[in-house]
Amino acid sequence: MGFFITFEGIEGCGKTTQLRLLKERLEAAAEKVTVTREPGGCPVADQMRAILLDAKNSAITPLAELLLYAAARAQHVQEVIVPALERGETVLCDRFTDATVAYQGHGRGLDLTVIEELNTLATGRVQPALTVLIDCPVEVGLSRALARIEATSGAKEERFERESLLFHQKVRNGYLTLAAAFPERFVVVDGSGDVQQTGLLVEEALRQRMQSLGKAGLAAVKAGC
Ligand SMILES: Nc1ncnc2c1ncn2[C@@H]1O[C@H](COP(=O)(O)OP(=O)(O)OP(=O)(O)O)[C@@H](O)[C@H]1O
Ligand SMILES: [Mg+2]
Repeated sequence: MGFFITFEGIEGCGKTTQLRLLKERLEAAAEKVTVTREPGGCPVADQMRAILLDAKNSAITPLAELLLYAAARAQHVQEVIVPALERGETVLCDRFTDATVAYQGHGRGLDLTVIEELNTLATGRVQPALTVLIDCPVEVGLSRALARIEATSGAKEERFERESLLFHQKVRNGYLTLAAAFPERFVVVDGSGDVQQTGLLVEEALRQRMQSLGKAGLAAVKAGC
């Protein structure tokens, strides 16, 4: 089985940027890598993504939102993640189950036990071996995310960026609570520095964690071999 790594954190913390950098490093070391993201990751789930992230859809209820995330995840896990892991590839996924706990649970206040049950149902218990939480103040993340939206005219995926600062603070705290609850799965990296600084922190954290997990190939990549 391949190795499953997820990237998590608030809007604009640098998940997509750091995931791409890691993909390049792994491929340079001849690792087979599948890069994917949630919500979405395959055609059916991408249609659900369009509904979930469209700022015009402010009428979606918290429960409908939660169920749509679960539906998209069920499709994505079966169609993309499990087959890639079975092929022995390293899977890098941009957001996964922890995002639902942080956003719909801590952010929206939905029942955490229900969310956990839905996550288990949707994933069939497929869990990341490692989760990189890129943490930064919400003002930092949101200003980056909003600048990106303004730079990409016609961007429609901004429903969450338009939420209040308080909402994003709850999400950030939710992520930090998760990391504290599952220290063996999470690595927390400070994302408030520049891209290169954060990249070095991600590499160092992964190198240490991979060695303790016995994943020699990835550990060598992180050591710069
Ligand atoms: N460390 C950094 N310092 C400054 N700008 C950054 C940094 N990391 C990423 N950026 C820029 O900030 C914007 C958001 O970064 P990125 O898309 O990687 O964040 P994200 O966590 O994936 O956001 P989202 O949750 O909205 O998908 C991008 O325009 C990116 O180029
Ligand atoms: Mg992103």
